[in-house]
Amino acid sequence: MTSGPGTAPADSGTAPAGPLRSASWFGAGGRAGMIYRSWLQSEGFPPEVFDGRPVIGIANSWSELTPCNAHLRGVADAVKRGVWQAGGFPLEFPTMSLGEPLMRPTAMLFRNLMAMEVEELLRANPLDAVVLLSGCDKTTPAMLMAAASADLPALMVTGGPMLNGKFRGQDVGSGTHVWRFEQEHAAGRMTQEQLFAAEAGMARSCGHCMTMGTASTMACLAETLGMQLPGSAAWPAADTRRIRTAHQGGQRIVELARAGVRPSQVMTREAFENAIVVNAAIGGSTNAVIHLLAIAGRLGVPLSLDDFEVLARPVPTLVNLMPSGRYLMEDFCYAGGVPAVMRELGDLLHTSHIGVSGSSLADVIAGAECWNSDVIRPLGDPLQPPGTGTAVLRGNLCPDGAVIKQSAASPHLLRHRGPALVFDSIEEYHEVAADPDLDADASTVLVVRGAGPKGYPGMPEVGNFVLPTRLLAQGVTDMVRISDARMSGTGFGTVVLHVAPEAAVGGPLALVRSGDWIELDVPGRTLTLEVSDDELARRRAAWTAPAAQTSRGYARLYTDHVQQASAGADLDFLVGMSGAAVPRDNH
Ligand code: FES
Repeated sequence: MTSGPGTAPADSGTAPAGPLRSASWFGAGGRAGMIYRSWLQSEGFPPEVFDGRPVIGIANSWSELTPCNAHLRGVADAVKRGVWQAGGFPLEFPTMSLGEPLMRPTAMLFRNLMAMEVEELLRANPLDAVVLLSGCDKTTPAMLMAAASADLPALMVTGGPMLNGKFRGQDVGSGTHVWRFEQEHAAGRMTQEQLFAAEAGMARSCGHCMTMGTASTMACLAETLGMQLPGSAAWPAADTRRIRTAHQGGQRIVELARAGVRPSQVMTREAFENAIVVNAAIGGSTNAVIHLLAIAGRLGVPLSLDDFEVLARPVPTLVNLMPSGRYLMEDFCYAGGVPAVMRELGDLLHTSHIGVSGSSLADVIAGAECWNSDVIRPLGDPLQPPGTGTAVLRGNLCPDGAVIKQSAASPHLLRHRGPALVFDSIEEYHEVAADPDLDADASTVLVVRGAGPKGYPGMPEVGNFVLPTRLLAQGVTDMVRISDARMSGTGFGTVVLHVAPEAAVGGPLALVRSGDWIELDVPGRTLTLEVSDDELARRRAAWTAPAAQTSRGYARLYTDHVQQASAGADLDFLVGMSGAAVPRDNH
C-alpha cells in the first residue's frame, strides 16, 4: 500500500500549543506533585519521565470477551515503542470493551456507556493525547465519540481484519456466510457437521470481521475522517504491517500532542462529507449512518440523515467486498485499501482535508495506486451504479426516515408492494418462523417492531432475520423485511432498517396491522403504509405504549435518554463536547 504511515508527517500548520496538560500534575510542587510522581515511580518509571514530555494515553479495548480485540495488547506494545522513540511518556489503560458476538442483549446498548467511560477517563487523567485502540464494531465509534467530546489530541489505531476465511477451497466471510450457511442449513442443504467445519475455517486469525461489515466500515471511515494514519485501516491484524502502523501511530501522536491538534480540528464537516462518500463507495454498513450522526453530534458538526441521501446518491459502489460483492478485506488491503478508493473518487472528496498524518488528502491520493481493479473498481466501471448504496427512505411509515442497503438487497424487490405480516418482537417472529402453516408467501412484507433504541432496548442487529422455513425450502432467498432494528454490516437482503420514530415511542410502525398493504419504492425513496390518515388516527388513539423492559441501572438510564436512530441513538445529555480542561485538584 502506498502513501502509508511511513510518510514523513507534514507540518499540520497548527500553532504550537501552550503548556502541556500533564504539567498540572507532574510539574506541580508540594504534596500534590509528590503524590503524582511518587505513585507512578512505583511502576518502575524513572524520574526523568516527568521532565515535561507529552504524556500519551493508550486507551486499550483489549478483552478476551471481545475476540476481535483480543490481540490489542501486542498492538499497544508497538504504540508504546513509537511513543518512547518520539520522546513521549506512554501510559496504557484499559477501557470497557464491546464484543459483538458475545454480549447480550446487544453491544449497541453499551456503545454510549463506553463512549461516556472513555471520555471521562481522558478528562480525569494527566494525559496530553491519546491513542485509541479499537476493533470490533462498536468500539470504534464509541472511542471516536469519546475523543470528540473530550477533544484531546487523539489518533486511532484499529486492530485490523482477520485473514480471509476459508472453507472447502472457497473464501468465507465472517458474518455474511453465517447468514448464508444458516439459510442453507434451514433449507436442508447443509449438515451440522459441515456447519462446524465452516465455523472453524471462518476465524483463521486474530482481528475483526473481514467482510465490509461494521468494523471494517468504521475502520475505513476513521481513516477517511482523518483519525487513522492513511492506509492503515486495511492491514490484516496478523500482518506485521499492522504492528508497524501502530508503532508509527505512537510516533505521530507525540507530535500531535506537542502541536495541540484536536479531534475537532480533524473531524470537520468536510471530513464527515468525505466519510459519507467513501461509505457509499465501499458498500459500507448501514450502521455507519447511526455512528457518524452520533460522532458529529458530539462535535456540534451539523449532519442529518438527508446528508447521507444527498451526498451518497452520486457515488457508485466501487469496492467488491462481501456482503455487496465477492472479496474480503485481505484482498482490499492488497488492492490498495482506502487511499486507492479515494484516488478513484477524486473530485467527489474534499481533498484539502488534513488528518492526523498532517498530509492533505490530495497528497495521500497522489501517492495511492490500485493493484486490483476487480476488487476496487474504477469509477467508470463500478460494481454498482451511482445511487445504489444506502438509501434514505421517507413516507408515512417512517416520517423521520429509514435506511436500506441497496447493494446488499435483491434488485427485483426494490420496488415491491405486498401485505404485511406483523410481529411485536423478534422473539414473536422466531416462535413461528418454522411453522409450516405460517400465512406468508414470497410477496409478504415481514414487519418486526419493538427492536428500536428504546423498545428492545439497544436496537439489536436483527433486521435481517432469517426467512420462514417453509419459504426457504421452496427456494425463496429474499423477502422485504421492515423493522426499527439495525442489521449487521455483514448482513444482506431487502431489509428496511432504522424506521423512525420506532414503535416503542408510538411511531407509525406501531400502528401497522397484519393484512395492511405496504409499498416499498427504493428508487423513489419512499415507504408507504396504504392506510388512510383517518384510520391511522383511530389506531393511534387506541394505542398504548408497551411496558418498559427495564426499571433500573444503566439500561434504565439508556431507555430514558436515548435518541432515535435518525439522530444517532446517542444519549441526549452526551451530545456535545465538554473539552479536556484540567479538573480540580483534590490533593
Ligand atoms: Fe467483532 Fe464482527 S464480531 S467485528
